[in-house]
Amino acid sequence: MSDGYTSRLWIFHVFVILAVLFNTAYVGYQFGPQIVSIGRERFPSRDEEPSARIAKLDFLPINFTVPDDALTDPKATAFANNSRMYLVDTRRLFEVGQIIEVNVELFDGYSKRRTIGGDDVRVRLYNDDLKAYANGYVIDNGNGSYIARLIALWKGKSRIEVTLYHTREAIKAMYRMREQFVGNHMGKFKAGDVEEDIRCHPLARMLKGRELCNLTLENGGLSWYCWKPSNIKLLCHDWVEVIFRPPSHGLPLTNAEKGLLSPGGYGISIPGNIKVEVRNFSNIYMNLPECANVNSFITWNQQSPTGYFYNSVWKPLHCRGFSNLTKIQQCLKGKELVLFGDSTTRHWFETLESLLECKLVSGSWSTAKWHKPAKAFCIHDFFIHWLPHAMPFSVGPRWDTRRYLRPISAYLEEIRPNEKVIIVVHLFMHLEEYHPDVFRDRIQRIARSVRHLLQRNPHVKIFMKGAHTFLARRPDYFNSVFDSISHQAFKGLHDKVVFLKIRCKKII
Ligand SMILES: *[C@@H]1O[C@H](CO)[C@@H](O)[C@H](O)[C@H]1NC(C)=O
Ligand SMILES: *[C@@H]1O[C@H](CO)[C@@H](O)[C@H](O)[C@H]1NC(C)=O
Ligand SMILES: *[C@@H]1O[C@H](CO)[C@@H](O)[C@H](O)[C@H]1NC(C)=O
Ligand SMILES: *[C@@H]1O[C@H](CO)[C@@H](O)[C@H](O)[C@H]1NC(C)=O
Ligand SMILES: *[C@@H]1O[C@H](CO)[C@@H](O)[C@H](O)[C@H]1NC(C)=O
Ligand SMILES: *[C@@H]1O[C@H](CO)[C@@H](O)[C@H](O)[C@H]1NC(C)=O
Repeated sequence: MSDGYTSRLWIFHVFVILAVLFNTAYVGYQFGPQIVSIGRERFPSRDEEPSARIAKLDFLPINFTVPDDALTDPKATAFANNSRMYLVDTRRLFEVGQIIEVNVELFDGYSKRRTIGGDDVRVRLYNDDLKAYANGYVIDNGNGSYIARLIALWKGKSRIEVTLYHTREAIKAMYRMREQFVGNHMGKFKAGDVEEDIRCHPLARMLKGRELCNLTLENGGLSWYCWKPSNIKLLCHDWVEVIFRPPSHGLPLTNAEKGLLSPGGYGISIPGNIKVEVRNFSNIYMNLPECANVNSFITWNQQSPTGYFYNSVWKPLHCRGFSNLTKIQQCLKGKELVLFGDSTTRHWFETLESLLECKLVSGSWSTAKWHKPAKAFCIHDFFIHWLPHAMPFSVGPRWDTRRYLRPISAYLEEIRPNEKVIIVVHLFMHLEEYHPDVFRDRIQRIARSVRHLLQRNPHVKIFMKGAHTFLARRPDYFNSVFDSISHQAFKGLHDKVVFLKIRCKKII
């Protein structure tokens, strides 16, 4: 290994990945209560309680069997309004570093106590005046009651919010969607003046009833199928464009389930206003090691909360970062920063481009929602790239060429042994509507390519960005499913690749 290069790169991570994205002083993203994930940690962790494990059994994200019936009675599911929460320690007085525990009891629409678990309950501690927000950790007792745990992370008055994010029945409906719904992607086939628009999907089994075009090779080796054009003048390789256009009917959902998955049907706070007072100021989170000196293993195996916002600045709980622009520019000198993914990493690209004094060299963008590879040269002698992933990539409701969409794994295989590259991989939202088999397939290929890359290139640094929450803007149960799949796919690489559990909500 060479010189101080490695350690400087690790230091680089600290700023670029954490500070840039979270520090309002530098970026114009809206930070506030919404940005904080209230997600429930799902990784198996050392101190996870046996009760939690038992309760989660029939919802293990990897197991896709959904045995229960569809919900027809809209009241036969958990109702946030009828549910209760209360502090276990009624004194409401805590000290920094202490655990705050809240009991949550769910009731259904008939005000009857829930007797099964599996609801997606989330908790957070916040103080709007201090712009301080932290997630907690929720344990499912499996009988309709939940224990929500928070850490008192700052001094002062704070509130606790418990949200019934998705009910068990909604989760089941979402799983059924992914097993039965044909999806939102269409392909355009074109030859001369003949053209046809046809439904496409990454899983052949989902396109029953008609002959298929197997477009896997055209998609860079990642599974992709469309129905065969009915016009005999069109061949499979006449596939030229893509669009993401939701069909207006055919959802395999009951009306009650549609209600649960529509705005106002999920992400509902449980009534009650729990205020706590946190006393004292302790230094427990002050003497953290520099992020550069922390093994990446911890980033894959942390329990929620992984950090918190204070005065709108993200403070990780496992290490200490910095935000010195000069240092970042120095350490990036002579290197390439490659951001893979979708609009989330494209926003990072745009932010870094202006922050680090870079200039697009790949041609100016004709639209904000740019879907072609982009490259910028920065005055301190380094490059930043943004590269969109392959299908399913949602280009939105306008036809767009498929030509620039390539698998992340394919790009990774092309990185040469001597290249000084820093890689951020993000794969999430565009795969979210599909059966997790699709995400698993892609992420396993990426993990394989990462393994090859690490073997041949000692300079490379790799960061995997996890899924993020959308809060009450759209159902997001699958973010934790995807993170679990990534966790598993990267087994054996946890000490070599950093997992960024950043739950910002930038979308498309
Ligand atoms: C998935 O869950 C079903 C129902 O709970 C169970 O019968 C099956 O064995 C599980 N499969 C795996 C692979 O764990
Ligand atoms: C729950 O309570 C809130 C606030 O009182 C109210 O606006 C909402 O309509 C209620 N929701 C249901 C489903 O009863
Ligand atoms: C639910 O389970 C928890 C943990 O086992 C237990 O403490 C609690 O009393 C149970 N609640 C009910 C209503 O049975
Ligand atoms: C589609 O083509 C790919 C690549 O040639 C192949 O591996 C896959 O088995 C094919 N799929 C089907 C359903 O035949
Ligand atoms: C905070 O509380 C601890 C334990 O109760 C005590 O030892 C310490 O002196 C307190 N610190 C301050 C600044 O009040
Ligand atoms: C940032 O880092 C540079 C180079 O290490 C140093 O000269 C400068 O004083 C630092 N700036 C601040 C504000 O700490």
